Amino acid sequence: PGFAVEVLPEIDSTNTELMRRARAGQMAPVLLLAEQQTAGRGRLGRDWQSQRGESLTFSLGLPLAPADWSGLSLAVGISVAESLHPDIRLKWPNDLWLSDARGERKLAGILIETASFGDQRYAVIGVGLNIASRDGAGLATPPGALQELLPGVDAPQALARVAAPLVQAVQAFEALGFAPFQARFNARDVLRDREVSVSDGQGGETRGSAHGVSETGALLVHTKAGMQPIISSEVSVRPL
Ligand code: BTN
Repeated sequence: PGFAVEVLPEIDSTNTELMRRARAGQMAPVLLLAEQQTAGRGRLGRDWQSQRGESLTFSLGLPLAPADWSGLSLAVGISVAESLHPDIRLKWPNDLWLSDARGERKLAGILIETASFGDQRYAVIGVGLNIASRDGAGLATPPGALQELLPGVDAPQALARVAAPLVQAVQAFEALGFAPFQARFNARDVLRDREVSVSDGQGGETRGSAHGVSETGALLVHTKAGMQPIISSEVSVRPL
């Protein structure tokens, strides 16, 4: 299908806007880019803050009917990473990271939401990518920036690289599921063979070593009780 591309100087959140439209029955495929968000949102109810000119913030909205939704955010992250740079790593379930001699920095985050209207489901796939370095005061993970890998790159150039492959990746995921993405995720997995702590958001914690993702995109953690697949979208994982 063809995609409309829409650019707004300012909006609360591109995800929020596409969710509003979908609930009102507007379900056409669209890529909505905001130069500035005033209420950007991240996973787990967190804020996503970015300054005009320093980041690429957009959401792709489209009707989608995969057999299994789990793994979609991984497929999105894989596509965005692959279309930008070979050195970009992935942190399950949906962060893009830089990891080098300067340490580990978060480069991008993905927030996927769905809305239903009638019997159609509409996927809103939000991507926030840091383009230029910024002050990381108050953030759990200091931010990385795409300009560290691609000096001088700007948001329109980054969008031009990621947009078409992303649409293709989402369509491939809908048709084929996560299987074509498994090895590609594992090749960039920043947690691989590391000790991790998995929080379920309700005080529960599992420790073990991370061993990549399964063919459905579950994180495989080797714990004292054996290999455990982690699937919940509410969990957060941190390296120890
Ligand atoms: C995360 O790391 O928790 C996900 C961050 C997702 C941010 C993007 S920016 C474009 C879209 N609109 C939002 O409000 N959030 C996503």
